[in-house]
Amino acid sequence: MRSETPAPILLADYTPPAYLIDTVHLDVDLRADGTVVTATLACVRNAGTAAAATNPPLVLDGEELETLEVAVDGQVLPASAYRIDAETLTIATVPARFTLRTKVRIQPDANTQLSGFYRSKDGYFTQCEAQGFRRITWFADRPDVMARFTVTLHADKAAYPVLLANGNPVGQGDEADGRHYATWEDPFKKPCYLFAMVAAKLDVLRDTFATASGRTVQLAIYVEPGKLDQCPHAMEALKKSMAWDERRFGLECDLDHYMIVAVGDFNMGAMENKGLNIFNTKYVLARPDVATDVDFENIDRVVAHEYFHNWTGNRVTCRDWFQLSLKEGLTVFRDQEFGADTHNRDVARIREVRGLRAAQFPEDAGPMAHPVRPASYIEINNFYTATVYEKGAEVVRMIQTLIGREAFRAGMDEYFRRHDGQAVTCDDFVAAMSAASGFDFTQFMRWYREPGTPRVTAASAYDAQARRYTLTFTQANPKASDNAPYLIPIRVALFDAQGQELEGHSRTLLLTETTQTFAFDNVASAPVPSLLRDFSAPVLLDYPYTPAELTLLLAAESDPFNAWEAGQRLATGLILEATAAIAAGRAPVWPESFTAAARTLLTGYEARGAAFVAEALTLPGEATLAELLDEVNPDALHAARNGLRRHLAEALHAEFAAAYAALAPTGPYAPSADQAGRRALRNVCLGYLLERDAPAERQRAQDQYAGADNMTDQFAALAALANANAAARPAREAALADFYQRWQGEALVVDKWLAVQAGSRLPDTLATVQRLTAHPAFDLSNPNKVYALLRTFGANLVRFHAADGSGYAFFAEQIKALDARNPQVASRLARCFDRWKKFDAGRQAHARAALESLRDHPGLSRDVGEIVMRALG
Ligand code: ARG
Ligand code: ZN
Repeated sequence: MRSETPAPILLADYTPPAYLIDTVHLDVDLRADGTVVTATLACVRNAGTAAAATNPPLVLDGEELETLEVAVDGQVLPASAYRIDAETLTIATVPARFTLRTKVRIQPDANTQLSGFYRSKDGYFTQCEAQGFRRITWFADRPDVMARFTVTLHADKAAYPVLLANGNPVGQGDEADGRHYATWEDPFKKPCYLFAMVAAKLDVLRDTFATASGRTVQLAIYVEPGKLDQCPHAMEALKKSMAWDERRFGLECDLDHYMIVAVGDFNMGAMENKGLNIFNTKYVLARPDVATDVDFENIDRVVAHEYFHNWTGNRVTCRDWFQLSLKEGLTVFRDQEFGADTHNRDVARIREVRGLRAAQFPEDAGPMAHPVRPASYIEINNFYTATVYEKGAEVVRMIQTLIGREAFRAGMDEYFRRHDGQAVTCDDFVAAMSAASGFDFTQFMRWYREPGTPRVTAASAYDAQARRYTLTFTQANPKASDNAPYLIPIRVALFDAQGQELEGHSRTLLLTETTQTFAFDNVASAPVPSLLRDFSAPVLLDYPYTPAELTLLLAAESDPFNAWEAGQRLATGLILEATAAIAAGRAPVWPESFTAAARTLLTGYEARGAAFVAEALTLPGEATLAELLDEVNPDALHAARNGLRRHLAEALHAEFAAAYAALAPTGPYAPSADQAGRRALRNVCLGYLLERDAPAERQRAQDQYAGADNMTDQFAALAALANANAAARPAREAALADFYQRWQGEALVVDKWLAVQAGSRLPDTLATVQRLTAHPAFDLSNPNKVYALLRTFGANLVRFHAADGSGYAFFAEQIKALDARNPQVASRLARCFDRWKKFDAGRQAHARAALESLRDHPGLSRDVGEIVMRALG
């Protein structure tokens, strides 16, 4: 049992730092018995604070540091002059301005948390956000302390030929005993979470970028030796991002050197360290035979995201970690816009919302619900969430919707004019937007402050006499602290019975009241409303659509998001009805009208775009559907959703086969939006075709698997086979064995192999996952492997939530084993329990037992402890 629950950190308790640090000199000496870090800090009392007059003590953060020496102004302090406890170094009296020198030894080889300075296969790497820098040296580890850094690294030259840190190289040379050194100087002040250094054996791809003002930036991507042929796509993505940010936001790169380093052991996706991004290999390495279309697109997005942080995050950073969405929500919005401009705007939006509903809506409805700007946390690493990132991006998008693109751009300019070089808050960002637009965001700030997804209920009335149509909206958010209404932008259009959009009636309604009516005049007949076009606000929207109205919108709506949405609503209605029927022992009914709508989509893909049709024919996911039920019967839901797939597969067999044939590749692979859309639809067809128990269908999948010249098609065939029914078992096992045989040397492809098995709907998936935890391909100390196998299983609704609790029990044991090495990753796995209260009493009892066993586990981390405590509530 935990001895004590750590106290939460509160936004309301924020106070400015007592001391600032102007400059930092780090000397980092990598030795066999550990790394010695000598830090020289120019410290100055923060005159602007109330405490300044009282000569406050100096308190620095540190974790797992072996302190060898502490000196103030060159005088080594006796041990009695300072105090060290588990997390702080305190010097009771210091002058108003002084130089602090500390010397510590750290053990990167023993750092399994992958936070701070740690070992990975090819050398040593850092991850400092949020609080990893304190694991390197004593420091004021908070984002509002910004300093200029100079770093000298010393290491064995043969083993670690590449020595990197932020900024510009200013010196290098050989040292005795086959060692060498390099010195890097970062001209920009930065918070220590943006610090990075690398000592490794790596290959490098170099390029340059000429900025709008004519400066040349040296670009470099460092990767594991032998992987240079998997770097060009990331390099192109970087140059595209740089050009895009100049075009769209007038933001130019301020650096002489922009480096990306890829590392195979990394807790998250990537990190925007100033001038020295460190990336999970997953978001750098790509070649058509090893990466899918989705991988290529994700690399574009993540490379852009980290690059965009150079302005939104680095030039202007966060005052404190409660403001995390200031940089993350804004930067996700920016990378979304970049992705939409470089790929396919229509499906980009659809995928964003699909992702939001699969991850953020459940988060916002569950025990980890928190505002975009949280007011408290126990472990900040638990708040790198879908809410802070993706809902945060939706909030920024709404700001643009409210004031328009031009004013938004002016607001960005104003934000940088006011705050360049500062550490600020979400209020500062919104104030700049307000200043540039004149818009009053007072009510809007509720989006930052409250947890939970608002539910908007719409009703309509038509007065034929007055030719007047009215829409009445009611909003509520039971998770919020009060009943006050949000400001919600709702884009609407009206359609007539023939599917014609009524001219002059498309507008953005600003919902500001709990209940509010909007009138449309001169409407000739009762229209069909299209509500929340382009998903103009992250809300749940109820409107009593009839199937006929939805079918009309699916066919006629020119806003691709709402056309898709109409189809999803249709499918959702059918699947939920079928779920209830199956649970009650009745057979589901599938209306011919739905089949007909799907047929129209499928045969009309040339006109509507293959990428769109692929999205429209993909049924809502089980986790998304589960949120719409009060109590989830995962087996019935699973059977219902698959029943609809099977029904479509049978009814539209000829159409799927024809589209599959017509969409066959005609030229060499390129990860272009057009080709990717065609492959996506063709592979959707393949998946449906394989729902039928027919040898010819299995053969088709096997042929595609064997004949594919690219990973997208090869993996799609494998995934279809991995989910296929009993008769396909031999084909499935053969393909899985072949795939591993072929790709065991490519770590990221092995991750796909693990994930496709963990996500399989086959009934024995848990046994497979258990077996795979002992397979040489799995490694509990590598986050990518853990995410691929374990988190994929945790997201496999029907298998993770098995009625006998076996999924829960297995998971709790894995989390315990992992927590001892890497609490951040363990904590992410623990989130799979979030929705346990949505299931029946039997499942809940099993889940509770698993959660309680975690809670009572000796030595449980603060990270997992916070998640478990909130889950048990
Ligand atoms: N700032 C990084 C990004 O989103 C993510 C860092 C995550 N770190 C963490 N400890 N959770 O680009
Ligand atoms: Zn980010």
